[in-house]
Amino acid sequence: MDFGTRTVLITGAGSGIGLATARRLDAEGFSLVLVLRPGADCPTGWRSPVSFEYCDLARPNDVSQLIARVRAKHRSLDVLFCNAGVQPWDRKITPEGLELGFATEVVSTYLLIDGLTSWLASSQYPLVLVTGSLVHRWGNYEFEALASGKDFDPNQTYYANKLCQMQLVSYFASTLKVKGIPVHALEPGMTRTAFARHFCGFYRMMSVIWRPFMRRPEDVAEDVLRLLLTGDLMETSGSNWYRGRPKPLAPQALDHLAIWRLAEDLHKLCSALQQRV
Ligand SMILES: NC(=O)c1ccc[n+]([C@@H]2O[C@H](COP(=O)([O-])OP(=O)(O)OC[C@H]3O[C@@H](n4cnc5c(N)ncnc54)[C@H](OP(=O)(O)O)[C@@H]3O)[C@@H](O)[C@H]2O)c1
Repeated sequence: MDFGTRTVLITGAGSGIGLATARRLDAEGFSLVLVLRPGADCPTGWRSPVSFEYCDLARPNDVSQLIARVRAKHRSLDVLFCNAGVQPWDRKITPEGLELGFATEVVSTYLLIDGLTSWLASSQYPLVLVTGSLVHRWGNYEFEALASGKDFDPNQTYYANKLCQMQLVSYFASTLKVKGIPVHALEPGMTRTAFARHFCGFYRMMSVIWRPFMRRPEDVAEDVLRLLLTGDLMETSGSNWYRGRPKPLAPQALDHLAIWRLAEDLHKLCSALQQRV
């Protein structure tokens, strides 16, 4: 099996884990579709075919347009890597009335996987990978309050958004099994990126103190490459991978009732947003 000739779409590819992964996969000859924020500088110096797509992932309509463009422009897509994320320190609400982190991580992950499923299904070795986090274990939420940012707290909201993403991994792992598309989570561990740039006070100080002990984004990229090149991810679905090994998801990320309720709530939310366009 040659897993190394696949086309991989990476969100959040302009910096940190996304960019390091793109560089590593490029060196191995993968074809890449890199999703950047509109107006972001285009990283240069690629060896393999790379195409850039610009999208504000916090805007569901932009995500729908991205999906349409990807389907129109690219003959095939094998791997979808939903990696973009943000942890705002203040309550920020998008024009659609969604909390910024929820829109960026939860809604875009749902729309991208849902919208690109049929495209991925035509690949010989399809795969969906979502960047998670250890902190999903501390997540807890009520859907309306989380989506609207009503009870916003910089840490609790991020933990809950990560929990939702892990519940989506479980949801799509189960619904896409019949189409032969494995869906997995990647837990990077604390990584030396610019992710903490919005942090304030004590948490900002801690992120500076911890920085020398964090993993390098290149280490996480190496994990991703290894996972893509082995058959491990193709034979199972719904696993969470940390440093190349499966690590159990939190019980609330595997709770069937909560998972299906989230999927239903997101479906209703996205349908309502689409009708407003
Ligand atoms: N670093 C860690 O310790 C750590 C630990 C656990 C999990 N993670 C997860 O790892 C993932 C990658 O983060 P990172 O550490 O590599 O940090 P990062 O360098 O800040 O990467 C996040 C990427 O997402 C992009 N992004 C955010 N909002 C966007 C939007 N609305 N539209 C388009 N792109 C958007 C950012 O673009 P801009 O730069 O333009 O904003 C950036 O390129 C995230 O999902 C994060 O939750 C990180």
